[in-house]
Amino acid sequence: MDEKQKYFDSIGDDWDKDLTAEDLERLSHIIDTFHLSEGLKVCDLGCGTGVLFDILRRRVGQSGYIVGVDFAPRVAHKAARNFPFHNIGVVEAEASALPFGHGAFDLVVSFAAFAHFSRKGETIHEAYRILRPGGRMVIIHLAGRAELAREHHMAGGPIDHDELPDSARLEEMFHRGNFMRHSLTETDTLYLAVGHKD
Ligand SMILES: C[S@@+](CC[C@H](N)C(=O)[O-])C[C@H]1O[C@@H](n2cnc3c(N)ncnc32)[C@H](O)[C@@H]1O
Repeated sequence: MDEKQKYFDSIGDDWDKDLTAEDLERLSHIIDTFHLSEGLKVCDLGCGTGVLFDILRRRVGQSGYIVGVDFAPRVAHKAARNFPFHNIGVVEAEASALPFGHGAFDLVVSFAAFAHFSRKGETIHEAYRILRPGGRMVIIHLAGRAELAREHHMAGGPIDHDELPDSARLEEMFHRGNFMRHSLTETDTLYLAVGHKD
């Protein structure tokens, strides 16, 4: 395990406790703007203990499914234990090397995790590969870039330098990853990026 995996494995049990009811409500509203329909197949990159699973499950219904991906073994194990449902699975894997076939998902979502990915460009490329044409990649952080960088710097250790790309860098990553249409909404309290696979 590398230092970041060890770090997340050590704080995995605590991270989800920091999310407030307000955070969850904001998250739920953001997910609503994507108009998810029943039956969709969703991949949650850096799923942690599964904070997004319940929100997603209510939208994709029994006929859809959710696969969470996390590279920290204890965290992935906890997510699987928390959600023993037939249409939720958890895979321990690196976000930039996904063990899924081409076009397997309708939506790839990543909440509060993209800033931590060491290979962001490769991860966007992988997301493109596992999406079906018409699918979307959505990156959500409930904090602006500067605030997030400050929080990570204060936390220190292996996440000291974890940052979100600015709009120019993100655009370059999406382009290189083959997403020709994309958008970024940035405020002091939100970073929301969407890439469309045409
Ligand atoms: C801050 S937590 C957020 C977890 C979850 N999305 C949530 O909101 O509760 C970031 C998660 O990303 C995972 N992660 C970080 N880098 C990763 C990578 N390169 N591949 C897969 N998972 C990664 C960590 O193990 C951790 O569980």
